[in-house]
Parts: sequence; structure tokens; C-alpha cells
Amino acid sequence: MAGSSDLAFDPWDPAFVADPYPAYAELRARGRVIRYEPTDQWLVPHHADVAALLRDRRLGRTYQHRFSHEEFGRTAPPPEHEPFHTLNDHGMLDLEPPDHTRIRRLVSKAFTPRTVERLKPYVDGLAGDLVAALVRDGGGDLLTDVAEPLPVAVIAEMLGIPEGDRAQLRPWSADICGMYELNPSEETAARAVRASVEFSDCLRELIAARRKEPGEDLISGLIAAHDEDDDRLTEQEMISTAVLLLNAGHEATVNATVNGWWALFRNPAQLAALRADHGLVPAAIEELMRYDTPLQLFERWVLDDIEIGGTTVPRGSEIAMLFGSANHDPAVFADPERLDLTRGDNPHISFSAGIHYCIGAPLARIELAASMTALLRQAPTLALAAEPVRKPNFVIRGLEGLRVEVG
Ligand code: HEM
Repeated sequence: MAGSSDLAFDPWDPAFVADPYPAYAELRARGRVIRYEPTDQWLVPHHADVAALLRDRRLGRTYQHRFSHEEFGRTAPPPEHEPFHTLNDHGMLDLEPPDHTRIRRLVSKAFTPRTVERLKPYVDGLAGDLVAALVRDGGGDLLTDVAEPLPVAVIAEMLGIPEGDRAQLRPWSADICGMYELNPSEETAARAVRASVEFSDCLRELIAARRKEPGEDLISGLIAAHDEDDDRLTEQEMISTAVLLLNAGHEATVNATVNGWWALFRNPAQLAALRADHGLVPAAIEELMRYDTPLQLFERWVLDDIEIGGTTVPRGSEIAMLFGSANHDPAVFADPERLDLTRGDNPHISFSAGIHYCIGAPLARIELAASMTALLRQAPTLALAAEPVRKPNFVIRGLEGLRVEVG
């Protein structure tokens, strides 16, 4: 086991956030698990370990299905944070079996691959319209003009969020997502609590309306969905699921789009190859998600002692799996610091693995392909207009914007 005192890994250092990949190489050389005091976590940087731990039931996204806070050696969150935790902790991402299994099964019923495939013409059409407007204007901000409106509209449409409430989705989501960064401040928590209350109220009203008058949307589907045991979602689970789908349904896709184009602009030979062969789009999407991983770190609680590379990590500990590092591990990816859109075998871990594997991965891929194809076809001269500014966040990796021009 290695210690953290002299590590280049520093999630609060803008230079590290700008390019965390050299520090990851250093971490991988240090060992398979590294104690990191500033967050009281155990860092896991190797692909093989991250892939195995994501499937290991000795770890969990929560411990509350097995232990009280006291039993687990932790303290309950302060009561004033309760609205955030009530919302967050009833979403499937923060539940473990059997609750996770029950909710994921119900959501999967309303969120089938067929439903998602049926959306493709709508998603392609919307991407085409957004890119057409960008081209008409001679350029703009790829983030606000294309990357953001596409997944926000798609997930809002799927859930049946009224037009009037849609403008709030981004700010609510951004405020809630602040809590997923490492060691969030009290100010971040206060913003997340306020957003949790407002977002929950909005969904509670919408669910009540759909109960009275069901529609074709996913919320009506969630109300109707029940499995063979007649296992319905509770009201809180429905609210939490809807908010999770709305937030997870756009945050990472927005970032993957702009991070991806920023990487393409920095690798002109690869961009030229893509422009010459649009058939590369599916492989390019996978490679861009590997090369600059949109969600850099996911955490798990250690529910039973576990040994990693000869180090025992005891029950009650928290493990931080470094997805960005796993995706740059030379044991799995040849020449990992090179963007290679023709990379054949690409077992990147950006959509996770195991029971929490991203339920929206097929939708994300359709959205990413739609915007990329529309940009390649309709804006073949798309070029960077200004150096982008990176968001200071480490876990959710993104840019403030991406100014482009179309000549
Ligand atoms: C590029 C885009 C996306 C990326 C990189 C991404 C990534 C992820 C990852 C890494 C997880 C699992 C986290 C963990 O294991 O702790 C996850 C879970 C999830 N994602 Fe995505 N996601 C994306 C898009 C979407 C979309 C479009 C939806 C829309 C519905 C979505 C919905 C979800 C949900 C509901 C979960 C929780 C699944 C569970 O706990 O069983 N995601 N996503």
C-alpha cells in the first residue's frame, strides 16, 4: 500500500483537473490501492481492479441496507441536508439489492431498448435542426447550441416534462450534481438542498397530474409499471427515479459531446480521418469516451473486508474507483494516451459495469452519434474559434463552453 503525501493526484488543483492522465500513470505505478487522506478514501487506478470491484458484492453504493451509520463507523448527514439525501438515496443508483433490483426491473420495463430505438428518428431530426441553426449563424457555442439542448429535450420529452418546467432542469441538475464532487462545501450542499426541494415538488405535482390523466410518457409508464409480484414504486421512489433519469439523462452526454469535440480539434489528423469516413462514428464515440472520460470517479462502500493487491481494505472504508485512469491503463489499451478512432477492441469503463451499469447507455450512444453525424455532414468546416475554459470540477468533467465557427 502507498500513501498520499507526495502524490500528483490533487482534485482541487486546476492543473491536475486540466490533464489528470499523467498523475494517473503515477498512481498506477504506485500500486493497486492507494490510501488518500484528503478524502479518507482508497484510490483504485487499474482497469482490472475497477472492472472486478464494480461486480463485487462486498462493495455497495450504500451501506444503509445492512448497517446503521453508527454500526458502519460513520455519522448521519446533518438534518439540514435531509431533502438532498431523501431524493438521492431513493434513486436506484444509490440503492443496493433487493431495492435496486426491484426498481431497476420496473424502470427497465418502461425504458426498453425498443423504446429507445424508436426515438432515433426524433433524436436525429432534432440534432439536424440544432446543427442547421449553428451553421446559419456561422458558428456559436457548441455546448449551449447543440450538446446541451439535444439530451435535455430528449429526456424531458421521454418523461413528459411540460415545456414551462424545462428551463429549470439544467440549473437544478447542476446544483444537485455539486454534491457528487469530492468534499462538497456547505454552500454547495445548501444549493443542492434547495434544488432537491424544488425539483421534488415539481415532480410530485407532475406525478399527481399523470395519475389523473396518464399519457404516453415515461412517468405514466412508471406509475403503471409493476412486476409479477405487483411490486410498485413508492411515491418517493418515483420522484427519485424521475430526477435521476433527468439528471443522469443529460449531464454526462453534454460533457461527452464537448469533451469529444475538444479532443478532435486537438487531434486534427484524427478529425480529418473521421471527416473522410463517417463510418468511423460509432468507434469514434467509444474512443472519445475512453480518451477523455466524462465521469472520472465513482465511489463504493466496503461492506465486508476486502483484499486488493495484498492490502486489506476494512469494512467501513470508502473506495474511489478512478474510471479515467482505468481507461488509460496500458495493460488494456495499447498506447493509451493516443487518440485512435480506429481502435478495435475498446473495453472502456465509462458506462460502469455490474449491477449499476448505465441504463441509459443505448440512448447516450444514439444521442452522441446523432450530433456527431449532423456536425460532420452539415458543418464539414467546423473549427475551434477560441480556447475553451475547463470547469473546475474533477468528478464530472466538462467545459464551460466550446466556441466554434463554420466557414
Ligand atoms: C455519455 C453519457 C453517459 C455516461 C458516461 C453515463 C455513465 C454512467 C455510469 C458510469 C453509471 C454508473 C455509476 C456507478 O457504477 O456507480 C451510470 C448509471 C446510470 N445512468 Fe448513465 N451515463 C450516461 C448517460 C445516461 C443517459 C442518457 C441516461 C438516461 C436515462 C442515464 C441514466 C443512468 C441511470 C438511471 C443510472 C443508474 C443505473 C443503476 O444504478 O442501476 N445515463 N451512468
